[in-house]
Amino acid sequence: MKKILIIGALGQIGSELTPEFNKRYGSSNVIVADAADDKRGVVTDNVFEKIDVTDIHAIENAIKRHNIDTVINLAAILSAKGEQNPDLAWRINIDGLLNVLRVSVKYKLDRVMIPSSIAVFGPQSVLYNAPQETNLKPNTMYGITKVTGEMLADYYHRNFGIDFRGIRYPGIISHKTPPGGGTTDYAVEIFYEALKHKKYTCFLSGEACLPMMYMPDCIRGTIELLEADRSKLLHHGNYNLGAMSFTPDVLATEIRKHIPEFTITYQPDFRREIARYWPASIDDSAARAEWGWQPQWDLPAMVEDMLKEIAKKL
Ligand code: NAD
Ligand code: SER
Repeated sequence: MKKILIIGALGQIGSELTPEFNKRYGSSNVIVADAADDKRGVVTDNVFEKIDVTDIHAIENAIKRHNIDTVINLAAILSAKGEQNPDLAWRINIDGLLNVLRVSVKYKLDRVMIPSSIAVFGPQSVLYNAPQETNLKPNTMYGITKVTGEMLADYYHRNFGIDFRGIRYPGIISHKTPPGGGTTDYAVEIFYEALKHKKYTCFLSGEACLPMMYMPDCIRGTIELLEADRSKLLHHGNYNLGAMSFTPDVLATEIRKHIPEFTITYQPDFRREIARYWPASIDDSAARAEWGWQPQWDLPAMVEDMLKEIAKKL
């Protein structure tokens, strides 16, 4: 892991992973890429490449030019946007992923990381303390691309020896870069609305319980898995990762401890149907046993920190 390319680096996770990578590996060893322009000024210290992950030649050129040995592919269409544009979700999440797998074979990359998601679970999965191994038949295009991605990665690992690593991230909560169009986005929006207007209308129902994680845990977990001793990894591309689980009602109650006037109302839309077959909680014992995963942020600490950080921005 000497020279790293992050594709999709300008999004919610990439914009926070990049500065941590810079601290750890040196910004000259971290090349960042995205199909979008860096309008928010996310990239300050790194070389930026404009790359569409569906363009294999653009990825190859960057790998050759920068002598890349590790690729992190964060480029994706998330669940809600994916239901609105399933063809686009397939193209970016699967064609893009296959491009990354193909170049990883051709250039004998040392390591490849592509996230999966709690969206791999579906109506036939065990949804309480969802096991690492269970029946995965998701009913969203996003979920279908994530299960297919896990299987493709497994295939490339078995047949071509690619050291492929991935986490089934829960809903990620953060205050730096807005989320990119998922079903768990309510758990970020709610903080801005609570601080600005003291009220929020939620697009899920009040009792939709989902696994969530605060960004510092997400970034630490990602780096810990990336750096984990490969001989200890029995799984590789599909680690369940837990931190906290809550419903919109419970999150609103926690926010009211800081903003007593805060009210929440509900106008569920199509995203309620997406959340319906996602797990309420996650069994992450494989990640704990194989590479020592341990979350550090719980709901009260996350809410306090989010309100403090967003208040500074507003
Ligand atoms: P995001 O939507 O915030 O960022 C994705 C980035 O990819 C954006 O900067 C976008 O411009 C870029 N992109 C889109 N199409 C591209 C293309 N064709 N070529 C290159 N770049 C392109 O997503 P995120 O939240 O940072 O998610 C990163 C990864 O983590 C994704 O695989 C996602 O499925 C997974 N994940 C995220 C969450 C979450 O809650 N954020 C949860 C589970 C899994
Ligand atoms: N946060 C993501 C979404 O809602 C989960 O993969 O799409």
